Amino acid sequence: MKLIDGKSVATQIKLEIAEEVKQIVARGDKRPHLAAILVGHDGGSETYVANKVRTCEEVGFKSSLIRYEEDVTEEDLLKKVQELNENPDVDGFIVQLPLPRHISEQKVIEAIDYRKDVDGFHPENVGRMSIGLPCFVSATPSGILELLKRYNIETSGKHCVVLGRSNIVGKPMAALMMQKEYPGDCTVTVCHSRTKNIEKYTLEADIIIAAMGVPEFLKADMVKEGAVVIDVGTTRIPSEKTKSGFKLSGDVAFDEVAPKCSFITPVPGGVGPMTIVSLMRNTLLAGKKAIY
Ligand code: GUN
Repeated sequence: MKLIDGKSVATQIKLEIAEEVKQIVARGDKRPHLAAILVGHDGGSETYVANKVRTCEEVGFKSSLIRYEEDVTEEDLLKKVQELNENPDVDGFIVQLPLPRHISEQKVIEAIDYRKDVDGFHPENVGRMSIGLPCFVSATPSGILELLKRYNIETSGKHCVVLGRSNIVGKPMAALMMQKEYPGDCTVTVCHSRTKNIEKYTLEADIIIAAMGVPEFLKADMVKEGAVVIDVGTTRIPSEKTKSGFKLSGDVAFDEVAPKCSFITPVPGGVGPMTIVSLMRNTLLAGKKAIY
């Protein structure tokens, strides 16, 4: 069994991006610039955005944080999106979700110029991804593909079972794993909360991508010997053992599943650290105007 160390891969990729930014700036080109819009003071969103801004600094990007109070109008937010679309100094930007209930997230996402949509949430990017055109791929699926590549995991002709059908992980993951390229070329099965006898499918799987959000859902007797298991679960469970008062639980019963696997990602330290790095890679692409 080989542990997929997302934390160390993420550190390595940050160094690679930082090196590329140095070269960009040395030849007199513009430093990539990521802007983030944060509405309100939700604890989780504050932490995520602070991490994104800090990572921009680490890799040498310019970053801008634009804050609004919870009561900002949809109209004002849409105006800001338009302004960022038109600002040539901003290469890419994100609007941190969730937004307050009086604002339509879909309307805001669709207002973003897809060429600056480094989250990859715009329907244009989602559509382009599904037919294999240049696009921004959302952070989690993109991070998982990068892990498969960096560990030289074979995917061609394999049976990949995706557990979960969310718009930001399950659906894009299934589309990417069946793409006619590496990593891809898989036969893909998508299982979800209404699937009957899930183990019938998981036992057939060479690669399992678990993204249902159900702690320790995947048990040893559901996995075939030698499978590759990617755990996307990050459920916060109360814990007396940690300073923060909670611990992260994956969708995989790691201790019993790991001995059967050829490769497995831990939680934490597997897929999680790759997500911000994917956003940075997308921003680098945006800076190069690689998506048009
Ligand atoms: N909220 C939780 N995850 C994300 C993300 O990847 N992007 C944005 N914009 N908001 C989020």
